[in-house]
Amino acid sequence: MKKVLVLDFGGQYNLLVARRVRECGVYCEIKPYSMSMADIRAFDPAAIIFTGGPATVFEADAPRLDPEIFELGLPILGICYGQQLMIQELGGSCRRAEVREYGKVELTHSGESELFYGIEPTSVYWMSHGVEVETIAPGFCAIAHTANCAFAAIENRERKLYGVQFHPEVLHTIHGTKILKNFLYRICGLGNEWTMANYASDAITECRAKIGSGSVLLALSGGVDSAVAAALLYRAVGDQLTCIFVDHGLLRKNEGDEVERAMKDTLGMNIIRVDAHERFLSKLFGVTEPERKRRIIGEEFIRVFEAEAKKIGKVDFLAQGTIYPDVVESGMGGKSNVIKSHHNVGGLPDCVDFKEIIEPLRRLFKDEVRQLGMELGLPEALVWRQPFPGPGLAIRVIGEITEEKLAVLRDADAIFREEIAKAGLDRSVNQYFAVLTDLRSVGVMGDDRTYDYTLALRAVETQDFMTADWSRLPYDLLDTVSRRIVGEVKHINRICYDITSKPPATVEWE
Ligand code: XMP
Repeated sequence: MKKVLVLDFGGQYNLLVARRVRECGVYCEIKPYSMSMADIRAFDPAAIIFTGGPATVFEADAPRLDPEIFELGLPILGICYGQQLMIQELGGSCRRAEVREYGKVELTHSGESELFYGIEPTSVYWMSHGVEVETIAPGFCAIAHTANCAFAAIENRERKLYGVQFHPEVLHTIHGTKILKNFLYRICGLGNEWTMANYASDAITECRAKIGSGSVLLALSGGVDSAVAAALLYRAVGDQLTCIFVDHGLLRKNEGDEVERAMKDTLGMNIIRVDAHERFLSKLFGVTEPERKRRIIGEEFIRVFEAEAKKIGKVDFLAQGTIYPDVVESGMGGKSNVIKSHHNVGGLPDCVDFKEIIEPLRRLFKDEVRQLGMELGLPEALVWRQPFPGPGLAIRVIGEITEEKLAVLRDADAIFREEIAKAGLDRSVNQYFAVLTDLRSVGVMGDDRTYDYTLALRAVETQDFMTADWSRLPYDLLDTVSRRIVGEVKHINRICYDITSKPPATVEWE
């Protein structure tokens, strides 16, 4: 299979570039810009894309490339910083832009380049730059401009080198996908061959070859990734796979049973379900600090898994549902502040005796994992479940967690989800859930005073969960949900709807 190499210069859209390329049916991988020429050759790409990045190309410590990369004879597309770097390396120059372009900008192309094939002459593109190309390198010509930027896109047709100042990967660039397709199909001659059906059969063959007659152990968390990894491995090696489902008692209403049913009845897999809810609850007793909750749950998950795995004895492989965004190394070695530790597992189980780790999803994005799940015959309801955090309802019961509070939250959350589904919004709203606050307030029910909990409803629309907007749910829907919850769930007498976006808030409350 032909593949594209995406060299990452630390831009905030680096994962998006790779996703868009894959959406065009072309396999690609992201690697740090510092990848050696020997490794690039060994990777054997059919084309290369340079991402954008935060550095200023003419400053001393700006990330560079080995100029030999341009001698490989491969088509290259440089995006933003990638374009500037290409031009500078090949004999042109860049300067600070007089007008910094940010956001949606109107761009006009010359109509002469394959890159803009079939695209209307003027439309909206997404820009984010303070540096621009000043003089182009020999052999290049401008193929698009904006009011403030003469070299909004450039090409060296003969050498198949292309540069764009805008971001084709961002959806605000109306024809962004078409531009990527033009580059991949028309300029590089690549085809639409990366499909989940192909991936599934290749991955099954690969896993079979790797595992041979060995045994595999996998921890099911109740989430989509581990379920899909299990389904794939089961197809590959059948009963050589043992799955341990650690039920921490922090899943949503009926969720544990649904996962068990899907794996056992639909796929015929053998799974060991460990009911560990008491163990988790006692560890969480009196704990209110969100990060401590996360640490305890991650750690305890491993301990329960270990205890169960010990009963099985030695295994050859330990499987994990790690996905691509977890393994991509940022080009700049990205150091950012930890807002929340999203890791669900507190490291690897150290008492489990295994030879090797196997991660069959480590090259896939989340949406690809879902497609693969469908391909493997997992029920749609499981595959298309909205994201659910590893620590589960523990971070949706604000403050101290008790069995009673969990039960209240489960019932309220189930009503909210049911009504969202009834309204046909369960795919368009990306995440929606209830939060049990630790605030109690006075209400009146019949003739009696109540002093009960306030429940918050949260619903967000987002592409990547890094930023999110609160969902403008219809008032009537909110009204139905509110009435039903207060009427049907004991101990809730007030409902609030969270109307903050991320940032400055986060999706989860803890
Ligand atoms: P935040 O709250 O950080 O959430 O805006 C962004 C996305 O991440 C999920 N999330 C978690 N997922 N373990 C997880 O596996 C966690 O500890 C965790 N905390 C938040 C959250 O549900 C949302 O989809």
